[in-house]
Amino acid sequence: MLKYREMTEEDCKEVAILEKENFEHPWSFDSLIKEVHNESSVFITAVSDGKVAGYAGMYIVCDEGDITNIVVGEDYRGKGIASGMMDYLIQKADSMKINDMTLEVRVSNLTAIHLYEKFGFVSEGIRPGFYDSPNEDAMIMWRRGVNNYH
Ligand SMILES: CC(C)(COP(=O)(O)OP(=O)(O)OC[C@H]1O[C@@H](n2cnc3c(N)ncnc32)[C@H](O)[C@@H]1OP(=O)(O)O)[C@@H](O)C(=O)NCCC(=O)NCCS
Repeated sequence: MLKYREMTEEDCKEVAILEKENFEHPWSFDSLIKEVHNESSVFITAVSDGKVAGYAGMYIVCDEGDITNIVVGEDYRGKGIASGMMDYLIQKADSMKINDMTLEVRVSNLTAIHLYEKFGFVSEGIRPGFYDSPNEDAMIMWRRGVNNYH
């Protein structure tokens, strides 16, 4: 059974492993634990039969939602889990009256770009050399809300 929920301290060990497996500069266990208690962020996990299959994080900056990371474990990809987490974050942003959401993504990461486009994010520019290991440009994507909360 798959369920989505706000990240708990118990999830952080498995989330830190996902980070290490997927990123050159992974978030540490300690920094993830801090996010569990951070009222300015929303970190969520997708849990499949008791195991963390994926997670995603969003910072609330003024009235914007800044998606920091989204990862699904290799064995769980292509099953709609990242889409489920995007849905969850967008609904959460709506409930907090957050109008606009943004993120950065490596320009070569077409899988993630397709995911974001599916949820209404569009490219609004390129940040040259934003990433290292390997050096690469970032695409800056925005999902401008239609609600005009502010
Ligand atoms: C990007 C990632 C989170 C997608 O997770 P996922 O659970 O497999 O994604 P979903 O099954 O929900 O698919 C969502 C959309 O992504 C795109 N997508 C998924 N797999 C794809 C592939 N192999 N090729 C191209 N697009 C793909 C499609 O648009 C898909 O929507 P669709 O099935 O309606 O066409 C996952 O591949 C991952 O963790 N990658 C490594 C970490 C990463 O790069 N994170 C993003 C950093 S910004």
